[in-house]
Amino acid sequence: MKIKRFLKWSAAVIFAGLVLLTFVAYWMSTNDCDHRATPRNPMKVITHCEYGSPDVLKLEEVEKPVPNDNQLLVKVRAASVNPLDLTIRGPLLLRPLFGLRKPKDTRLGVDYAGTVEAVGKNPAAAGQFKPGDEVFGAKNGALAEYVCVLADRAVVLKPANMTFEQAASVPVAAITALQGLRDKGKIQAGQKVLINGASGGVGTFAVQIAKSFGAGVTGVCSTRNVDLVRSIGADHVIDYTKEDFTKTDQRYDLIFDLVGNHSFSERRRILNPNASASWPGLEEQDGTTGSGRVWPVSSKRMWRHGSSARNSSPTLPH
Ligand SMILES: NC(=O)c1ccc[n+]([C@@H]2O[C@H](COP(=O)([O-])OP(=O)(O)OC[C@H]3O[C@@H](n4cnc5c(N)ncnc54)[C@H](OP(=O)(O)O)[C@@H]3O)[C@@H](O)[C@H]2O)c1
Repeated sequence: MKIKRFLKWSAAVIFAGLVLLTFVAYWMSTNDCDHRATPRNPMKVITHCEYGSPDVLKLEEVEKPVPNDNQLLVKVRAASVNPLDLTIRGPLLLRPLFGLRKPKDTRLGVDYAGTVEAVGKNPAAAGQFKPGDEVFGAKNGALAEYVCVLADRAVVLKPANMTFEQAASVPVAAITALQGLRDKGKIQAGQKVLINGASGGVGTFAVQIAKSFGAGVTGVCSTRNVDLVRSIGADHVIDYTKEDFTKTDQRYDLIFDLVGNHSFSERRRILNPNASASWPGLEEQDGTTGSGRVWPVSSKRMWRHGSSARNSSPTLPH
Protein backbone atom coordinates (compact mmCIF):
# COMPACT_ATOMS: atom_id res chain seq x y z
CA MET A 1 0.00 0.00 0.00
CA LYS A 2 2.84 2.32 0.98
CA ILE A 3 4.73 1.51 -2.21
CA LYS A 4 1.64 2.23 -4.27
CA ARG A 5 1.23 5.63 -2.62
CA PHE A 6 4.93 6.34 -3.03
CA LEU A 7 4.78 5.51 -6.75
CA LYS A 8 1.65 7.61 -7.17
CA TRP A 9 3.26 10.63 -5.51
CA SER A 10 6.52 10.14 -7.44
CA ALA A 11 4.62 10.06 -10.73
CA ALA A 12 2.69 13.20 -9.75
CA VAL A 13 5.92 15.04 -8.78
CA ILE A 14 7.66 14.00 -12.01
CA PHE A 15 4.63 15.07 -14.05
CA ALA A 16 4.43 18.45 -12.27
CA GLY A 17 8.21 18.90 -12.80
CA LEU A 18 7.87 18.18 -16.50
CA VAL A 19 4.97 20.61 -16.84
CA LEU A 20 6.97 23.30 -15.02
CA LEU A 21 10.05 22.60 -17.15
CA THR A 22 8.05 22.82 -20.38
CA PHE A 23 6.45 26.06 -19.19
CA VAL A 24 9.84 27.61 -18.35
CA ALA A 25 11.41 26.33 -21.60
CA TYR A 26 8.46 27.73 -23.55
CA TRP A 27 8.81 31.22 -22.10
CA MET A 28 12.60 31.20 -22.35
CA SER A 29 12.47 30.15 -26.00
CA THR A 30 13.62 33.16 -27.99
CA ASN A 31 15.67 34.26 -30.98
CA ASP A 32 17.92 37.13 -32.01
CA CYS A 33 15.14 39.31 -33.45
CA ASP A 34 14.98 41.74 -30.53
CA HIS A 35 18.71 42.34 -30.18
CA ARG A 36 20.17 42.54 -33.66
CA ALA A 37 22.93 45.06 -34.20
CA THR A 38 22.65 47.43 -37.15
CA PRO A 39 24.61 45.73 -39.96
CA ARG A 40 27.73 47.52 -41.15
CA ASN A 41 27.74 45.72 -44.50
CA PRO A 42 24.09 44.83 -44.99
CA MET A 43 22.32 42.31 -47.19
CA LYS A 44 18.62 41.65 -47.52
CA VAL A 45 17.10 38.43 -46.20
CA ILE A 46 13.65 36.98 -45.55
CA THR A 47 13.12 36.27 -41.86
CA HIS A 48 10.35 35.15 -39.53
CA CYS A 49 10.66 36.12 -35.89
CA GLU A 50 7.39 34.39 -34.93
CA TYR A 51 5.58 31.26 -36.04
CA GLY A 52 2.47 31.80 -38.13
CA SER A 53 1.05 32.36 -41.60
CA PRO A 54 3.10 33.92 -44.43
CA ASP A 55 2.14 37.31 -42.91
CA VAL A 56 4.94 36.82 -40.35
CA LEU A 57 7.58 36.98 -43.09
CA LYS A 58 9.71 40.12 -43.11
CA LEU A 59 12.29 41.56 -45.49
CA GLU A 60 15.19 42.63 -43.26
CA GLU A 61 18.81 43.65 -43.44
CA VAL A 62 21.48 41.59 -41.71
CA GLU A 63 25.28 41.48 -41.88
CA LYS A 64 26.53 40.16 -45.23
CA PRO A 65 28.40 36.89 -44.53
CA VAL A 66 32.15 36.61 -45.04
CA PRO A 67 33.40 33.27 -46.37
CA ASN A 68 35.89 31.36 -44.27
CA ASP A 69 38.90 29.69 -45.87
CA ASN A 70 36.89 26.70 -47.10
CA GLN A 71 33.79 28.52 -48.24
CA LEU A 72 32.38 30.25 -51.28
CA LEU A 73 30.39 33.46 -51.11
CA VAL A 74 27.49 33.06 -53.52
CA LYS A 75 25.28 35.90 -54.73
CA VAL A 76 21.85 34.30 -54.85
CA ARG A 77 20.08 34.85 -58.19
CA ALA A 78 17.11 32.54 -57.54
CA ALA A 79 15.81 30.58 -54.56
CA SER A 80 12.82 28.26 -54.30
CA VAL A 81 10.46 27.30 -51.51
CA ASN A 82 9.45 23.76 -50.63
CA PRO A 83 7.68 21.94 -47.77
CA LEU A 84 10.69 22.54 -45.50
CA ASP A 85 9.65 26.18 -45.34
CA LEU A 86 6.36 25.16 -43.76
CA THR A 87 8.28 25.28 -40.48
CA ILE A 88 7.17 28.94 -40.37
CA ARG A 89 3.87 27.56 -39.11
CA GLY A 90 5.68 25.96 -36.16
CA PRO A 91 4.19 22.44 -36.24
CA LEU A 92 3.72 21.44 -32.58
CA LEU A 93 5.58 18.14 -32.87
CA LEU A 94 8.64 19.88 -34.30
CA ARG A 95 8.75 22.79 -31.86
CA PRO A 96 11.12 21.06 -29.43
CA LEU A 97 13.58 21.04 -32.34
CA PHE A 98 12.89 24.41 -33.92
CA GLY A 99 12.03 26.48 -30.85
CA LEU A 100 9.07 26.07 -28.49
CA ARG A 101 7.64 29.60 -28.56
CA LYS A 102 9.65 31.31 -31.31
CA PRO A 103 11.76 29.89 -34.15
CA LYS A 104 15.42 29.62 -33.06
CA ASP A 105 16.56 29.99 -36.67
CA THR A 106 14.76 32.94 -38.17
CA ARG A 107 16.07 32.47 -41.70
CA LEU A 108 14.20 30.60 -44.42
CA GLY A 109 14.87 28.76 -47.67
CA VAL A 110 17.33 26.07 -48.69
CA ASP A 111 17.45 25.70 -52.48
CA TYR A 112 19.34 28.38 -54.39
CA ALA A 113 21.21 29.16 -57.60
CA GLY A 114 23.63 32.02 -58.01
CA THR A 115 27.05 33.34 -58.94
CA VAL A 116 30.23 32.80 -56.96
CA GLU A 117 31.39 36.22 -55.75
CA ALA A 118 34.41 35.17 -53.71
CA VAL A 119 36.24 31.99 -52.75
CA GLY A 120 37.95 31.22 -49.43
CA LYS A 121 41.71 31.50 -49.00
CA ASN A 122 42.26 27.73 -49.05
CA PRO A 123 42.65 26.94 -52.79
CA ALA A 124 42.37 23.19 -52.21
CA ALA A 125 39.08 23.61 -50.37
CA ALA A 126 37.73 26.07 -52.93
CA GLY A 127 38.10 23.20 -55.37
CA GLN A 128 36.91 23.75 -58.88
CA PHE A 129 35.23 27.09 -58.14
CA LYS A 130 36.29 30.62 -59.02
CA PRO A 131 34.55 34.00 -58.88
CA GLY A 132 31.97 34.35 -61.63
CA ASP A 133 31.04 30.64 -61.70
CA GLU A 134 27.33 29.93 -61.88
CA VAL A 135 26.38 27.36 -59.24
CA PHE A 136 23.39 25.83 -57.52
CA GLY A 137 22.91 23.93 -54.30
CA ALA A 138 21.28 23.79 -50.90
CA LYS A 139 22.03 25.95 -47.88
CA ASN A 140 19.88 26.97 -44.94
CA GLY A 141 18.84 30.60 -45.15
CA ALA A 142 18.89 30.70 -48.94
CA LEU A 143 16.12 33.32 -49.13
CA ALA A 144 18.84 35.96 -48.98
CA GLU A 145 21.03 38.07 -51.20
CA TYR A 146 24.11 36.02 -50.31
CA VAL A 147 24.97 32.64 -48.80
CA CYS A 148 28.31 31.23 -47.69
CA VAL A 149 28.63 27.56 -48.58
CA LEU A 150 31.31 24.96 -48.03
CA ALA A 151 32.93 24.34 -51.40
CA ASP A 152 33.01 20.57 -50.91
CA ARG A 153 29.40 20.21 -49.83
CA ALA A 154 26.07 20.73 -51.53
CA VAL A 155 27.16 23.02 -54.35
CA VAL A 156 27.85 22.23 -58.00
CA LEU A 157 28.35 24.12 -61.24
CA LYS A 158 25.08 25.05 -62.93
CA PRO A 159 24.74 23.58 -66.43
CA ALA A 160 24.81 26.43 -68.95
CA ASN A 161 21.51 25.38 -70.50
CA MET A 162 19.60 25.81 -67.22
CA THR A 163 18.28 29.13 -66.00
CA PHE A 164 18.93 30.17 -62.39
CA GLU A 165 15.23 29.65 -61.65
CA GLN A 166 15.28 26.11 -63.05
CA ALA A 167 18.44 25.22 -61.15
CA ALA A 168 17.07 26.61 -57.87
CA SER A 169 14.08 24.30 -58.09
CA VAL A 170 16.20 21.14 -58.19
CA PRO A 171 18.30 20.46 -55.06
CA VAL A 172 16.26 19.17 -52.10
CA ALA A 173 13.35 17.70 -54.05
CA ALA A 174 15.65 15.91 -56.49
CA ILE A 175 17.97 14.63 -53.73
CA THR A 176 14.94 13.33 -51.85
CA ALA A 177 13.83 11.43 -54.95
CA LEU A 178 17.36 10.11 -55.56
CA GLN A 179 17.78 8.96 -51.94
CA GLY A 180 14.41 7.25 -51.93
CA LEU A 181 14.87 5.37 -55.18
CA ARG A 182 18.60 4.74 -55.50
CA ASP A 183 20.01 4.80 -51.94
CA LYS A 184 17.10 3.36 -49.97
CA GLY A 185 15.03 1.63 -52.64
CA LYS A 186 18.05 0.11 -54.44
CA ILE A 187 16.16 0.54 -57.68
CA GLN A 188 17.13 -1.85 -60.47
CA ALA A 189 16.48 -1.89 -64.21
CA GLY A 190 13.38 -3.84 -65.10
CA GLN A 191 11.67 -3.39 -61.72
CA LYS A 192 8.08 -2.30 -61.44
CA VAL A 193 8.06 0.93 -59.44
CA LEU A 194 5.01 2.79 -58.16
CA ILE A 195 5.33 6.49 -57.27
CA ASN A 196 2.45 7.83 -55.19
CA GLY A 197 2.38 11.61 -55.58
CA ALA A 198 4.04 11.52 -59.01
CA SER A 199 2.97 15.02 -60.04
CA GLY A 200 4.48 16.85 -57.05
CA GLY A 201 7.83 18.48 -56.37
CA VAL A 202 9.58 15.22 -55.44
CA GLY A 203 7.39 12.95 -57.56
CA THR A 204 8.22 14.61 -60.88
CA PHE A 205 11.93 14.03 -60.21
CA ALA A 206 11.21 10.50 -58.99
CA VAL A 207 9.40 9.52 -62.19
CA GLN A 208 12.29 10.73 -64.36
CA ILE A 209 14.98 9.21 -62.12
CA ALA A 210 13.17 5.85 -62.00
CA LYS A 211 12.89 5.85 -65.79
CA SER A 212 16.58 6.68 -66.15
CA PHE A 213 17.34 3.55 -64.08
CA GLY A 214 15.35 1.51 -66.59
CA ALA A 215 12.40 0.77 -64.31
CA GLY A 216 8.79 0.42 -65.42
CA VAL A 217 7.06 3.35 -63.72
CA THR A 218 3.49 3.75 -62.54
CA GLY A 219 2.65 7.25 -61.29
CA VAL A 220 -0.31 8.16 -59.08
CA CYS A 221 -1.79 11.68 -59.28
CA SER A 222 -5.08 13.50 -59.83
CA THR A 223 -6.95 13.88 -63.12
CA ARG A 224 -5.49 17.28 -64.00
CA ASN A 225 -1.92 15.94 -63.81
CA VAL A 226 -2.31 12.64 -65.68
CA ASP A 227 -0.92 14.07 -68.94
CA LEU A 228 1.96 15.77 -67.12
CA VAL A 229 3.05 12.55 -65.39
CA ARG A 230 2.80 10.63 -68.66
CA SER A 231 4.80 13.34 -70.46
CA ILE A 232 7.75 12.99 -68.06
CA GLY A 233 8.01 9.27 -68.73
CA ALA A 234 5.56 7.25 -66.62
CA ASP A 235 4.52 4.05 -68.38
CA HIS A 236 1.21 3.91 -66.51
CA VAL A 237 -0.69 6.59 -64.63
CA ILE A 238 -3.33 5.97 -61.97
CA ASP A 239 -5.77 8.79 -61.31
CA TYR A 240 -6.37 8.58 -57.56
CA THR A 241 -9.74 10.28 -57.88
CA LYS A 242 -10.96 7.32 -59.93
CA GLU A 243 -8.93 4.34 -58.77
CA ASP A 244 -7.24 3.18 -55.55
CA PHE A 245 -3.80 1.78 -56.42
CA THR A 246 -3.89 -0.59 -53.45
CA LYS A 247 -7.03 -2.25 -54.77
CA THR A 248 -5.80 -3.40 -58.16
CA ASP A 249 -4.20 -6.72 -59.13
CA GLN A 250 -0.88 -5.03 -59.98
CA ARG A 251 2.16 -5.87 -57.85
CA TYR A 252 5.29 -3.73 -57.51
CA ASP A 253 8.96 -4.25 -56.63
CA LEU A 254 9.32 -0.78 -55.15
CA ILE A 255 6.83 1.77 -53.87
CA PHE A 256 8.01 5.33 -53.38
CA ASP A 257 5.22 6.91 -51.39
CA LEU A 258 5.13 10.70 -51.19
CA VAL A 259 1.60 10.91 -49.85
CA GLY A 260 1.33 8.22 -47.17
CA ASN A 261 -2.44 7.96 -47.37
CA HIS A 262 -2.53 4.16 -47.18
CA SER A 263 -1.77 1.82 -44.30
CA PHE A 264 1.25 -0.49 -44.11
CA SER A 265 -0.95 -3.50 -44.75
CA GLU A 266 -2.58 -1.92 -47.81
CA ARG A 267 0.83 -1.16 -49.27
CA ARG A 268 2.24 -4.56 -48.33
CA ARG A 269 -0.54 -6.26 -50.23
CA ILE A 270 0.66 -4.84 -53.55
CA LEU A 271 4.37 -5.52 -53.03
CA ASN A 272 6.06 -8.49 -54.65
CA PRO A 273 8.11 -10.77 -52.36
CA ASN A 274 11.40 -9.07 -51.39
CA ALA A 275 10.06 -5.74 -52.57
CA SER A 276 10.58 -2.42 -50.77
CA ALA A 277 8.66 0.68 -49.88
CA SER A 278 10.05 4.01 -48.79
CA TRP A 279 8.67 7.40 -48.06
CA PRO A 280 10.33 10.68 -47.23
CA GLY A 281 9.81 12.86 -44.22
CA LEU A 282 11.50 14.46 -41.29
CA GLU A 283 13.58 11.59 -40.11
CA GLU A 284 16.74 10.84 -38.24
CA GLN A 285 19.86 10.72 -40.35
CA ASP A 286 23.14 8.99 -39.79
CA GLY A 287 24.95 11.92 -41.35
CA THR A 288 26.67 9.91 -44.01
CA THR A 289 24.16 8.04 -46.08
CA GLY A 290 20.91 9.74 -45.29
CA SER A 291 19.60 6.42 -44.05
CA GLY A 292 16.44 6.28 -42.07
CA ARG A 293 14.53 3.75 -40.06
CA VAL A 294 14.11 0.27 -41.45
CA TRP A 295 10.77 -1.36 -40.93
CA PRO A 296 10.91 -5.14 -41.15
CA VAL A 297 7.71 -6.34 -42.81
CA SER A 298 7.99 -10.09 -43.35
CA SER A 299 10.06 -10.66 -46.46
CA LYS A 300 9.38 -7.13 -47.62
CA ARG A 301 11.09 -4.00 -46.43
CA MET A 302 9.53 -0.68 -45.71
CA TRP A 303 11.32 2.34 -44.48
CA ARG A 304 11.09 5.99 -44.07
CA HIS A 305 13.91 8.19 -45.21
CA GLY A 306 14.16 11.83 -45.86
CA SER A 307 15.69 15.20 -46.12
CA SER A 308 15.32 16.78 -42.76
CA ALA A 309 14.57 20.44 -42.46
CA ARG A 310 17.83 21.22 -40.74
CA ASN A 311 20.23 18.33 -41.14
CA SER A 312 20.01 16.08 -44.04
CA SER A 313 22.23 13.97 -46.20
CA PRO A 314 25.91 14.80 -46.72
CA THR A 315 25.06 16.34 -50.03
CA LEU A 316 23.03 18.97 -48.26
CA PRO A 317 24.36 22.17 -46.69
CA HIS A 318 25.68 23.29 -43.29
N1 LIG B 1 9.68 18.96 -51.95
C1 LIG B 1 10.73 18.69 -51.21
O1 LIG B 1 11.82 19.25 -51.41
C2 LIG B 1 10.65 17.63 -50.13
C3 LIG B 1 11.83 17.24 -49.46
C4 LIG B 1 11.78 16.25 -48.50
C5 LIG B 1 10.57 15.67 -48.19
N2 LIG B 1 9.43 16.07 -48.83
C6 LIG B 1 8.16 15.41 -48.47
O2 LIG B 1 7.72 14.65 -49.60
C7 LIG B 1 6.32 14.68 -49.65
C8 LIG B 1 5.88 15.21 -51.00
O3 LIG B 1 6.39 16.52 -51.16
P1 LIG B 1 6.20 17.31 -52.51
O4 LIG B 1 6.99 18.56 -52.40
O5 LIG B 1 6.45 16.42 -53.68
O6 LIG B 1 4.64 17.68 -52.39
P2 LIG B 1 3.70 18.35 -53.47
O7 LIG B 1 4.50 19.05 -54.52
O8 LIG B 1 2.67 19.10 -52.74
O9 LIG B 1 3.02 17.10 -54.20
C9 LIG B 1 2.03 16.32 -53.57
C10 LIG B 1 1.67 15.16 -54.47
O10 LIG B 1 0.71 14.34 -53.78
C11 LIG B 1 -0.36 14.08 -54.67
N3 LIG B 1 -1.56 13.82 -53.89
C12 LIG B 1 -2.26 14.68 -53.12
N4 LIG B 1 -3.31 14.03 -52.57
C13 LIG B 1 -3.21 12.74 -52.99
C14 LIG B 1 -4.00 11.57 -52.79
N5 LIG B 1 -5.08 11.59 -52.03
N6 LIG B 1 -3.59 10.41 -53.38
C15 LIG B 1 -2.49 10.36 -54.16
N7 LIG B 1 -1.72 11.46 -54.41
C16 LIG B 1 -2.10 12.61 -53.83
C17 LIG B 1 -0.46 15.30 -55.53
O11 LIG B 1 -1.14 15.00 -56.72
P3 LIG B 1 -2.09 16.08 -57.43
O12 LIG B 1 -1.38 17.40 -57.38
O13 LIG B 1 -2.20 15.56 -58.83
O14 LIG B 1 -3.36 16.09 -56.65
C18 LIG B 1 1.04 15.56 -55.79
O15 LIG B 1 1.52 14.69 -56.78
C19 LIG B 1 5.85 15.54 -48.47
O16 LIG B 1 5.58 14.68 -47.39
C20 LIG B 1 7.06 16.40 -48.16
O17 LIG B 1 7.10 16.80 -46.81
C21 LIG B 1 9.45 17.02 -49.81
